[in-house]
Amino acid sequence: MNKKNILITGSSQGIGLEIAKHFANNHNVYITGRYEEKLKNLCEKYFFKGYKAIDLTKDNAPKMLFDNLNIDVDILINNAGVYFYSPIREMNKEDIINSIRLNSLAPYELIKYYIPYMKQQKWGRIINIGSISGVMGEANASIYSMTKASLVGLTKSLALEVAQDNITVNIINPGWVDTELINNESLEQDFTKDEIIETIPQRRFVTPSEIASTCEFLISDNAKTITGQSINICAGLSLGY
Ligand SMILES: NC(=O)c1ccc[n+]([C@@H]2O[C@H](COP(=O)([O-])OP(=O)(O)OC[C@H]3O[C@@H](n4cnc5c(N)ncnc54)[C@H](OP(=O)(O)O)[C@@H]3O)[C@@H](O)[C@H]2O)c1
Repeated sequence: MNKKNILITGSSQGIGLEIAKHFANNHNVYITGRYEEKLKNLCEKYFFKGYKAIDLTKDNAPKMLFDNLNIDVDILINNAGVYFYSPIREMNKEDIINSIRLNSLAPYELIKYYIPYMKQQKWGRIINIGSISGVMGEANASIYSMTKASLVGLTKSLALEVAQDNITVNIINPGWVDTELINNESLEQDFTKDEIIETIPQRRFVTPSEIASTCEFLISDNAKTITGQSINICAGLSLGY
């Protein structure tokens, strides 16, 4: 495959950073997050092509990211996300709105801005990072589950819309991955990491590099007929007990 421009949102740490590192040798990788200095250092360390610091919960942020980066994106990986573990009655309006903006609206809008180029060149790959919580229920994570489920619908409908343009759209739904996201105070009040592992059929976390490897497959020529698919990488979590 020739060098592609790959934009990965939420790539300052965790799963997104691992995906970025995975592609850095062979492609032009662009990373995002909220903190300028952190992104600048990562770019220097891993030879990423560029970065943009932006808070994707802010109004108009997807358009600003598109305008400021000013690149033709061949592969868009919508990875930035926020997790709340909280009973519905305790969720405040601001966190509800920000969850929707970051987890659902930003991916939708970024696709809207980046897809015309993909259509024009008749090649593109879009990968949304959902969650197993968007496919199954998760008690006390209703806003997260709701926003991640929305990405499944987006993925399927958009895949149909661009099916004849040589653009594939898929969603990866990770189970528990040991990143900052699960170092969450309210989650930790209810479960230790060992207790989480006890709920996973394979009794292990998924690793960020396992998500990155699936991304690599999905952008490859071998996966060109795989589109609109919702792929659970969850160590068996979606199967029940
Ligand atoms: N870890 C898991 O168990 C798990 C399971 C299923 C799905 N996922 C999904 O996988 C994706 C990556 O998660 P992760 O575990 O790698 O989480 P993480 O370590 O918390 O990383 C989240 C990334 O999103 C960025 N981000 C957060 N808020 C943002 C905002 N308002 N505007 C722009 N960027 C923002 C963060 O950048 P800065 O903080 O530097 O701004 C960071 O790069 C998420 O969509 C998550 O829902 C994770």
